Amino acid sequence: MQDSKCRVIAITNQKGGVGKTTTTFNLGVALAKQGKRVLIVDVDPQSNLTTYAGWYNENELKYTLSDLMEQSMNDEEIKTNESILHHKENIDLIPSSLNLSALETSLAYAMSRESTLRNCLSVVKKDYDYILLDCQPSLGMLTINALASADSVIIPVQSQYFATRGMTDLFKIIGKVRRQINPQLKIDGALLTLVDRRTNLSKEIEKQIRENYGSILKLYNTQIPLAVKTAESTSQGQSIFSYDKNGTVAEAYSSFAKEVLDDGKRLIKNATAKVR
Ligand SMILES: Nc1ncnc2c1ncn2[C@@H]1O[C@H](COP(=O)(O)OP(=O)(O)OP(=O)(O)O)[C@@H](O)[C@H]1O
Ligand SMILES: [Mg+2]
Repeated sequence: MQDSKCRVIAITNQKGGVGKTTTTFNLGVALAKQGKRVLIVDVDPQSNLTTYAGWYNENELKYTLSDLMEQSMNDEEIKTNESILHHKENIDLIPSSLNLSALETSLAYAMSRESTLRNCLSVVKKDYDYILLDCQPSLGMLTINALASADSVIIPVQSQYFATRGMTDLFKIIGKVRRQINPQLKIDGALLTLVDRRTNLSKEIEKQIRENYGSILKLYNTQIPLAVKTAESTSQGQSIFSYDKNGTVAEAYSSFAKEVLDDGKRLIKNATAKVR
């Protein structure tokens, strides 16, 4: 019963450096501040989310996501307890390390290669309201695993020229995962990030998204501004809510979290209506 209450959201875009990791961490903390039980998962061998959350030395991590996925592939008991880390801002993290890269290669030969991550998450879903998956900048097997595990997708889009290039490929993969593995997968929307309010670029990108993808992709009302403190917070193991709690980026992630919560409420309402 409780299981279905948990929403799994993949934060994805195969374009690098668009704010996926920053969004995963700060959205996670913002949801926790609203009283939600949140798990964030580093599904990227670069391990930026793990570092951002303050675990700088991967040798000190006893177990990481690759261990859990390996247990799943070997049909062993998935020991999530040992790999979940607790961050002081009230969120939990499944960390990753470079080992995840080797694991991705071995996934190709695994029997349940697309559902390995989903199997791991099924063990912990009952303990959380939200699970956020920070994807790597590629459309490889790890991203497919994230899409196969997710209820929905949030796509951070950098407010920059060529921001929407490659988006069609992302939609193709999402469509394929939906048809072949996870029919429930939804696209929640695109979040404009790194918005420089001194330029009109974000208006241009908004227009491009509406013209090219408006029928399938909603744009969140919130935009995340560019602010140097955000980049600084990533090296301090703190969210923007502790590092610069009165700044524009904290305010933006807070209002973005409210939009995400509203989406969640709407889903529950629709599901209840369907059951009736
Ligand atoms: N609002 C912001 N203002 C200023 N800098 C930001 C902001 N958001 C993110 N950054 C910085 O931009 C860089 C890229 O952000 P981030 O790592 O979140 O992107 P990503 O999409 O996860 O990258 P990758 O594709 O490599 O995983 C980082 O150095 C981060 O600190
Ligand atoms: Mg990242």
